[in-house]
Formats: sequence, C-alpha cells, structure tokens
Amino acid sequence: MSQRAVLPFEERPKGIQRIQTLPDPALGALWDSIIVDVEMKSRLLSQAVLNFTMRGRVARTIIPLHGVIMLTGLPGTGKTSLARGLADRVAKSFPGGKFRLLEVEPHSLASAAHGKTQRAVTDLFAQSIAEAAAAGPTIVLLDEVETLAADRAKLSLEANPIDVHRATDAVLVQLDALAEDHPQLLIVATSNFPQAVDEAFMSRCDLILEIPLPDREACARIVKECLAGLAGVYPGIGKLVGSPQINDCAAACVGLDGRAIRKMVANALASDPQTAMNPERLTIAALLDAAKAVHKTRAKKNSKTEAPA
Ligand SMILES: Nc1ncnc2c1ncn2[C@@H]1O[C@H](COP(=O)(O)OP(=O)(O)O)[C@@H](O)[C@H]1O
Ligand SMILES: [Mg+2]
Repeated sequence: MSQRAVLPFEERPKGIQRIQTLPDPALGALWDSIIVDVEMKSRLLSQAVLNFTMRGRVARTIIPLHGVIMLTGLPGTGKTSLARGLADRVAKSFPGGKFRLLEVEPHSLASAAHGKTQRAVTDLFAQSIAEAAAAGPTIVLLDEVETLAADRAKLSLEANPIDVHRATDAVLVQLDALAEDHPQLLIVATSNFPQAVDEAFMSRCDLILEIPLPDREACARIVKECLAGLAGVYPGIGKLVGSPQINDCAAACVGLDGRAIRKMVANALASDPQTAMNPERLTIAALLDAAKAVHKTRAKKNSKTEAPA
C-alpha cells in the first residue's frame, strides 16, 4: 500500500485538485513509464533539484531563478506523467525532506464566475500555494497552463473578456512574489500550446523542455513495455515481446505519441471478439493493423482540417 495522503475534497483549497505527500511510489512509476532520452530526464531532474539546493542560498540579483519549469509538446507525449513523476524523484533526492505535491486545476479557476478569475488566481497563488510553500518544500503542478497564462498579445478584447487578460497579469504578479518569498517551491507547468502562453510567463521559466514524439527506438520500447505489462496478467502475450517482428510494429508507430501507442495496443486487443474475450490470442499482425489504422484515422482528420472551407 502506498502512503498516500490525499485531502478530502471539502478540505482542499479552491483550484487545488489534489495534495499528496512525497515520495509516492505510484508517482515514481509514472516517471519510469515515460520513455524519453535519459539525458532529457536527467536535465529535468537536475534543474528541479538545483531549485531546492541553490535557490534559497543565492540572491536573485546573482541568479534570477523563478522556480518554474515548463514542459511543452504535443498532447500525449507524457508531459503530465513526467511532471508528476518528477515530484517523486525530487523528494527522493532529499530523504526526509517532507515534500508535498499540489496539483492545480486551472480550468476550475478560469471558469469561475465572470469577473472572478483574477481573484481566484490571486487567492490560489497568494494563499493556497504560498501557505503550502511556507509549511515545507512544495512542488506545484500547473497542468495546461495556457488556460491561466493566456498570451495577452494574441487575445482580442472583443472575443475574450477583460477577465482573461487580468488573470494572466495576476499569474505574473504572483509568480514574482512567490519567487521572491518561497525558495522551497517549484512550479512545474505543462502546455500543449506553448504559442498560446504569454511570453512574460515563458521568460520566467528557468527551463523549458520540449518533450518530443517517441523515435523508432522509443516506439519499440513503449510497445514492448506495454506488452510486458500485459503479460503480467496474460502470460501468453509474453512471447510477442521477444518477437523480431515487434520492430515492424515499432516502425509502424513512428509519428504517434506515447498515449496513442498504448491505446493502439488496446485497439489491437479489441480487433475481434475472440481476442477481446481472450487477450492471450493477441498477434503481431493485429498490432500492425491497429498501428496502421491509427495513422489512417489521423491522416483523414488532418486532411479535413487542412481542406479549404
Ligand atoms: N514517451 C512515452 N513513453 C511511454 N508512455 C508514454 C509516453 N508518452 C505518453 N505516454 C503514455 O501516454 C499517456 C498520456 O500521457 P500524459 O502524461 O497524460 O501526456 P501529456 O500530458 O503530454 O498529454 C500515459 O498513459 C503515458 O504513459
Ligand atoms: Mg497533460
């Protein structure tokens, strides 16, 4: 059993979806499940660790760190999983450090009643996050941050209420205040649309990492790990992991994100009622067909969106 301490809903401050004590093996498993270049993971972890070793000791006039890391990339590339997994790894780097992870739900703030978003943002940062950071080392996940820090330069005043502009202003003001007052705080932001995030927010990030689509080798590892995981429940699937044809399958996955690859395996399991009833009947051919089918569906969708109106 993991030592999870998740606050009941009514005790959670507004805008905070979840508060967890760290480390947490379930989060650690997320970190391991994302296949990216080892150097990228190491870069990410090092920046996060440096935040807690150095930021409280070196004046911001010397190194102006904000304690913000940004993960960008296409949907399904593992950003949220990496951010949550990172929290576990950072906590493990400081044994006994009493770290906590706060997960923010930006949509709940942005959808606050008209005219209240700015207030909700200010309360979240100046109260909830600041209080947590004052109590001990804290990592905050700001998932899909474009909702909160929308690029003011691209917002038209007709289409967007002034509230959205003010929410971005409030986020920036609060980030500066938190950076100044709380060195034991790390904010990990993610975005599928970094071009929609305000430039001033981006410039406050200490590290911006773009998480790429998996290359062929990574595709092979994702498919293999997915099948190996399934083999824990359906041992008959184990024989596929070592099959040389798995490489053809990986080649067919190139261009897909990690989420699509894992879902493709589920599609293959659902390719006919017999396999769905008995997943041990899964074949490489079914995996190949499923991968091709995902590409086809995407190509169709793209040609529709690109077609002239
Ligand atoms: N590089 C990857 N390696 C393995 N699994 C991946 C990878 N990228 C995404 N996934 C899987 O896809 C799913 C979605 O990941 P998520 O972290 O929510 O992506 P994002 O936040 O970028 O949309 C998860 O189940 C994750 O395990
Ligand atoms: Mg995500």
